[in-house]
Amino acid sequence: MAVIPSATIPVDIAGAPYQVRIAPGLIDRLGEEVRPFVRKDKVVIVTDAHVAAAWRDRVDAALGAVGLVGAWLVLPAGEATKSWAHLAQVVDFLIAHDVERRDRVIALGGGVIGDLTGFAASMVKRGCGFIQVPTTLLAQVDSSVGGKTAINTAAGKNLVGAFHQPALVLADPDTLDTLPARDVRAGYAEVLKYGLIDDADFFDWCETNGAKLIAGDPEARVTAIARSVAAKARIVAADEKELTGVRALLNLGHTFGHALEAETGFSDRLLHGEGVALGMVLAARFSVRLGLMHGQDAERIAAHLASVGLPSSLATLGLSCTGQRLADHMLHDKKMDAGTLPFLLLRGIGQTFLAKDVDLGAVAAFLDEELAR
Ligand SMILES: NC(=O)c1ccc[n+]([C@@H]2O[C@H](COP(=O)([O-])OP(=O)(O)OC[C@H]3O[C@@H](n4cnc5c(N)ncnc54)[C@H](O)[C@@H]3O)[C@@H](O)[C@H]2O)c1
Ligand SMILES: [Zn+2]
Repeated sequence: MAVIPSATIPVDIAGAPYQVRIAPGLIDRLGEEVRPFVRKDKVVIVTDAHVAAAWRDRVDAALGAVGLVGAWLVLPAGEATKSWAHLAQVVDFLIAHDVERRDRVIALGGGVIGDLTGFAASMVKRGCGFIQVPTTLLAQVDSSVGGKTAINTAAGKNLVGAFHQPALVLADPDTLDTLPARDVRAGYAEVLKYGLIDDADFFDWCETNGAKLIAGDPEARVTAIARSVAAKARIVAADEKELTGVRALLNLGHTFGHALEAETGFSDRLLHGEGVALGMVLAARFSVRLGLMHGQDAERIAAHLASVGLPSSLATLGLSCTGQRLADHMLHDKKMDAGTLPFLLLRGIGQTFLAKDVDLGAVAAFLDEELAR
């Protein structure tokens, strides 16, 4: 039997460096992996109902093997859990379990659990430690790394949060075996994003291996997660708090994507990664419109996304709104800077850059055409 590779990626954040360990079967070694990072025999684990149903027994067995006991908080699954009410619930749970600053809480789940638990950890005792154990492709390639934590409020998504880096990230690709296919595909959009940002070779790799990865090929999973994490680690280490514009590159496709998510009510109609997929196509086509990039490159991106079953055309969403309305959603985006809308555009595949003063009227007119396409 072929040996499936594994990888350890360092994240060199000044003052808070940590590792991302990626290996099939890691979940069954969770106890020995976290043992050096925890001080007590009891470890607090925050997760959601879907993940608990699929993985709690395996995690308990792995902890028990090294004499650790899990204190579980199982929250409802879904984006709505990133709320003030659940934040309070997590904070109260950590305090009730005597979590101290030097303790490490485990966040076992997708981006929702990681963002919520990380935010709670940032405030308990003015900041306790936490370990990310991401179980969605999106969380393994993106949200578990980089230290952004947040909840959603009535005013919008991720508007309240903190930068709080985990002490360790343990990504077991085998946990994706139980993830619904639609969520796997949505996470794949964030994988492809790294190729589009600054790594044309990785985009080529995705064209050849993306479908295999989505189908669950173990080797493709490790390669994709490791390359994605390495890219994110490099970008985050260069600009941890999104001050210089480097980290902003990670938002490729997200300005268009968020507008579409807002228009579809942040619902199952359009998952975040699906919005990002469409957003990347729109960013590419808009770049073509501005004369920045060849049309064939934009269509190559759209064709690849379509080939793996991700949305690649606005028309398929069946929206009945105007381009102006979508542009209005962008104005509410938190990334607005002194009245101008910074936009990530492309000069080619692997050549993303931050354009500072894009004319929203031109964006609205472009979107009208895309809606009618
Ligand atoms: N912090 C960051 O840098 C960052 C980056 C990107 C996204 N995010 C956030 O991440 C969130 C989206 O994350 P997500 O896509 O992982 O969503 P999610 O956490 O809601 O997970 C998606 C669904 O999969 C289920 N699930 C998770 N792991 C599973 C498994 N192994 N088997 C079966 N079911 C499983 C969940 O219960 C949920 O129903 C958003 O809130 C977004 O804002 C944060
Ligand atoms: Zn994203």
